[in-house]
Amino acid sequence: MASTARRTAAEIADEVVDSFSECADDRLRELLQALVTHLHAFAREVRLTPREWGSAMQILAATGHLTEENRQEFILWSDVMGLSMAVDALDDDRDPRTTESTVEGPFWAPDSPRRDYGQSIAERPGGMPLWMHGRVLDVDGNPIPNAELDIWQNGPDRLYAVQDPAAPRDHLRGRFLTRADGRYALLGVRPTPYRIPDDGPVGAMLRVTGRQSWRPGHIHVAVSARGYRSLVTHIFDRDSDFLESDAVFAVKPSLIKRFEMRNQSDPERPERLHDEPWCSAEVDFVLALQGAGSAR
Ligand code: BEZ
Ligand code: FE
Repeated sequence: MASTARRTAAEIADEVVDSFSECADDRLRELLQALVTHLHAFAREVRLTPREWGSAMQILAATGHLTEENRQEFILWSDVMGLSMAVDALDDDRDPRTTESTVEGPFWAPDSPRRDYGQSIAERPGGMPLWMHGRVLDVDGNPIPNAELDIWQNGPDRLYAVQDPAAPRDHLRGRFLTRADGRYALLGVRPTPYRIPDDGPVGAMLRVTGRQSWRPGHIHVAVSARGYRSLVTHIFDRDSDFLESDAVFAVKPSLIKRFEMRNQSDPERPERLHDEPWCSAEVDFVLALQGAGSAR
């Protein structure tokens, strides 16, 4: 006679885990079985109620409805829950001499214009000019010629061009190649702290839990070179607010750089600057050889 005992939540979890046992892809089976195990354990630990689970489903549905090419609300969840940085840390088996990585964030856009050494990425005026320069190197300090730096940043209005329909498409972004001596240089603007998009479910969660939505001022840099592992990172302004409380946990001390104030008569003033205050940051990026550490 069949047992009339009611199934416990733990027994249901075991049954679901078993349902994947025939999955031929070992890694997929491992991922799904572990996911089910941890999700069910979470529900049991907090004694999740039907009403709470229903709310969670509504939040996920709202996240889906909001998500489109220029609005990546699922990625934002991953960022504010620290998962993006946890996955980044798990993947980080690079030589400790290499530049550290951090989150890409939702504002990278493809097909940034190729710009010349020293050229400005600002397509409209505003903000304090920032002369950013340095080298791309290997771990032994040798220059890497022809490395590409894809740069994107926000301006004094706190917005990235992709967030502002009125901004020129290529405003505050560009791709630069290093010279034979590994050097790159560009004219940007001093970045400003800004709030991550907070008009959706992620913003509602931050408000209801008393968390803040600001990020410290930073510039995004993606560096790639033939034969080397690609790097996605930021440089953070040492004098910015929110370095200690980044909404997405992406600050690493090694990425905090000094943006040095320079005066108008400084002989190193880039030619295209006129009579205005400016600042500079010298930043080298060190890449790992392809195949060093885990394959990517
Ligand atoms: C950003 O740096 O642009 C960013 C990163 C994560 C979430 C939101 C914005
Ligand atoms: Fe950013």
